[in-house]
Amino acid sequence: MDQINWPAVASRWLHIVGAIIAVGGAIFLRAIVHPATRTLPTDTAQTVRDAFRKRWSMVYGICILVLLATGFYNYLAVTAPQHRGQGSYNALIGIKIILAFAVFFLGSALVGRSPAFENLRRNAPRWLIINIGLALIVVAIATVLKFIPTVVAHPAGS
Ligand code: HEM
Repeated sequence: MDQINWPAVASRWLHIVGAIIAVGGAIFLRAIVHPATRTLPTDTAQTVRDAFRKRWSMVYGICILVLLATGFYNYLAVTAPQHRGQGSYNALIGIKIILAFAVFFLGSALVGRSPAFENLRRNAPRWLIINIGLALIVVAIATVLKFIPTVVAHPAGS
């Protein structure tokens, strides 16, 4: 047990929890909140959705911070040294980070209040589906990364 790299375990755990909450919350909004409010009078539906969005924006902001902090820690301190010089790993992690930034950007535009993204929010169900799809691709890439053999032996337990 004393050979386990506990900071790496804690940071991976937090990263996965952050991903579960961020993606799960977006799915909840798209699959539950939007359809459930569709039958309400327009004004009421908007008020309910805005109330959900306001609460969600706080939680989502925390998820982004957690995913960024733990993601970069996992990469720089744990996985990059194990995959040094390995083109396939570096290319995939690059794509994962770029896609993750796109997910954060779109998700923030949808929960924010900037007038520049009003059009996006008017089509929220469609953009939520797109963002959930992108986030699931990020999770798929993360899973592939996990199975790319390391070039350097694992520091025990990481
Ligand atoms: C939409 C945002 C993100 C989601 C949903 C997400 C999801 C995940 C998940 C589920 C894993 C665990 C995969 C597994 O153990 O099988 C993972 C691993 C990882 N993530 Fe993220 N992530 C996101 C953003 C980021 C960001 C911004 C970084 C920054 C570098 C990052 C870096 C990493 C690294 C290095 C790993 C470990 C990969 C490996 O096993 O070699 N992630 N991610």
